[in-house]
Amino acid sequence: MQSTATLLWVLRDVLGLTGTKFGCGMALCVACTVHIDGVATRSCITSIDSIGKSQVTTIEAIGATPAGARIQKAWLDHEVVQCGYCQSGQIMSALVSRVRRR
Ligand code: FES
Repeated sequence: MQSTATLLWVLRDVLGLTGTKFGCGMALCVACTVHIDGVATRSCITSIDSIGKSQVTTIEAIGATPAGARIQKAWLDHEVVQCGYCQSGQIMSALVSRVRRR
């Protein structure tokens, strides 16, 4: 049986990883961006069934990587944050060279 759940709501509601935010719900704003096998992906439109055994990385873990730690420091040093709501998605988008568009 297939699920209609999206990765975003499984991360937030099932796993309690609330760093990934809901914004537009249409893959337009980047607030929900996570990495799937290293590719920036909008979790609001990604079905949980499409993940398979892929590795999902969220904002909660990105600071443990050297690049993630550097970009989070740069974010603070340059006072990138405005309201802060979508910053996790922006950091996740800034860290990869590829963005999956579905
Ligand atoms: S919530 Fe806006 S891109 Fe996913």
